[in-house]
Amino acid sequence: MADLPPDTGGLREIDGRGLSAIPGLIDCHTHPCFGGDRVNEFSLRAAGASYERLHAAGGGILSTVRATRAAGEEELIQTTMRHRAWMRAHGTTTFEGKSGYGLDRDTELAQLRAVRSAGGIPTWLGAHTVPPEFTDADAYLDFLLADVLEEAAGLAEAADVFLERGSFDARQARRYLEACRDAGLALRLHGDQFTESGAISLAIDLGARSVDHLEATGSAGVAQLAASDVTGVLLPASSLFLARPMPPARELADAGALIALATDFNPGSAFCDSLPLVLSLACTQMKLAPEEALVAATANAAHVLGRADRIGRLQPGFAADIVLLDALDWRHVAYHLAGDVVHTVIEGGAVVFRRTA
Ligand code: NIG
Ligand code: FE
Repeated sequence: MADLPPDTGGLREIDGRGLSAIPGLIDCHTHPCFGGDRVNEFSLRAAGASYERLHAAGGGILSTVRATRAAGEEELIQTTMRHRAWMRAHGTTTFEGKSGYGLDRDTELAQLRAVRSAGGIPTWLGAHTVPPEFTDADAYLDFLLADVLEEAAGLAEAADVFLERGSFDARQARRYLEACRDAGLALRLHGDQFTESGAISLAIDLGARSVDHLEATGSAGVAQLAASDVTGVLLPASSLFLARPMPPARELADAGALIALATDFNPGSAFCDSLPLVLSLACTQMKLAPEEALVAATANAAHVLGRADRIGRLQPGFAADIVLLDALDWRHVAYHLAGDVVHTVIEGGAVVFRRTA
């Protein structure tokens, strides 16, 4: 305190007695811009329907595509801002947001603009799945690369693809990602969610920033990722929501892989906006230490977003993005399962959320 310049009247003091401070949480993988919801599908899954089979039958992602196309751009902006407010209340001060529910030119671009207007970092997920008006994935990619890529590259920071049976195979994913890289975008992949289909090899080969999901990754994939500088982004809320295996976080960390944690917030596979819940899952289900989990959702997530020099640490020269927790020991952020632990959220030095009562 003695080293601070004198207060000339402009300083706002925040009483932090009884609280602890962590860096603002960074959600580096979300799908926050969509129309409608999937609550009916949620009931069907509760009755035993499988996520992959619903998708294959034209539901799942494609039902959100129909609702997103029907919403206007203004509604998409309002919805994304609403979701941003939910995330903030859980301590998220930076979020990435993907397109991927338009799958036509206008709606994909509208989604990217909506994410940006809501304060997010846009990623172009044009290659999420093949929309019904195309009979095959290559014809759809022809369209994306000829008619959407140039404008998408002006709006997004990164490109992403769903490399999985029922969406795109490794050859198609490579084709899309190489074109996106040539247009100046950083690269991300949804990979190894249900099957190991070559996502890790492709990510390494193309110098992608991350490969995300990894629920199906076996020991060879763990070793391969650990020997690379590609970050594995783990999404345990999606495993929980779909009753699927957790990704091999402990094995990855022990092998020396770079890992980040994110919510994967979306209406189908993870309707979850809470990074504190993800940190709880990381510690209880994947056996990460609270310290490892916190770094994975702050500094490492900042690295995935190309911002490791600016956000994710409480350190001089970094943005004043700070979460005050209602506990003297910061580990309560993970320990208090779905608890109301976030007291105050400060973004760029300004209070943007304060818990009431
Ligand atoms: O990360 N797996 C592909 N995409 C999203 C889910 C999209 C959806 O179900 O709407 C995910 O899980
Ligand atoms: Fe995702």
